[in-house]
Amino acid sequence: MKKLICANWEMNLGRQDALMLVQELSENLAENQKKALIVIHPSFLHIPEISEALAGTKISVGAQNCSAFEKGSHTGEVGAKQLAEYNLSTVIVGHSERRKLFENNQIIKLKAEQSQKVGLTPIVCIGETSEEKSNGKTNSVLEKQLKESCPNSGNYVIVYEPLWAIGTGKSASLSEIEKVISFIKTIKKDIPVLYGGSVKPSNAGEILALENLDGVLVGGASLKADSFTKIIKSV
Ligand code: PGA
Repeated sequence: MKKLICANWEMNLGRQDALMLVQELSENLAENQKKALIVIHPSFLHIPEISEALAGTKISVGAQNCSAFEKGSHTGEVGAKQLAEYNLSTVIVGHSERRKLFENNQIIKLKAEQSQKVGLTPIVCIGETSEEKSNGKTNSVLEKQLKESCPNSGNYVIVYEPLWAIGTGKSASLSEIEKVISFIKTIKKDIPVLYGGSVKPSNAGEILALENLDGVLVGGASLKADSFTKIIKSV
């Protein structure tokens, strides 16, 4: 099965830089997508142009978030149905940076369901803090997040992103990743599971070689054509 390699650009890159980056990526990767499916998640504002720039390539586009509601009086929100007009594949829901602000498992589940309703695949993020990890609570925290924030059925993807590994430069070890992914798969059978948290060119090859892992979600290292290309080519 092809590995899924997702870029999460977070709130980075201006319009010109974003367009230049996808231009470089599509040139670099024209011949190199046999073993990986690639999805870029830019900010909402850039979705229409990025989606147009990548039309005809094998690189897909997704969103970093969507509303928990279908439509109506929700100022500042963007609905899954609106996103679906731009030929997207996925929507990241429940990233820890959003859980930290105000989103709980119930809201995340509603977002995942809204995405599924319009044919988009939700990518549900779960992960424990360093305190929970050191108190031996990783499995119980993940189990609660899995049970409460994932949709009951249909297509979706899970990303295990330990909070202590996101943006820190220090990824989880291979054995930690392997162990947690196996645990997740005992609860959510047949659902693809990715890892995220300081994936970079120097560790992507060994992480992506883990047999039970279905791919990665890359933040910082997806913002430069050179490092993201290296990650994709390491599959
Ligand atoms: P990172 O971010 O790769 O920079 O650790 C991961 C993410 O934001 O999902």
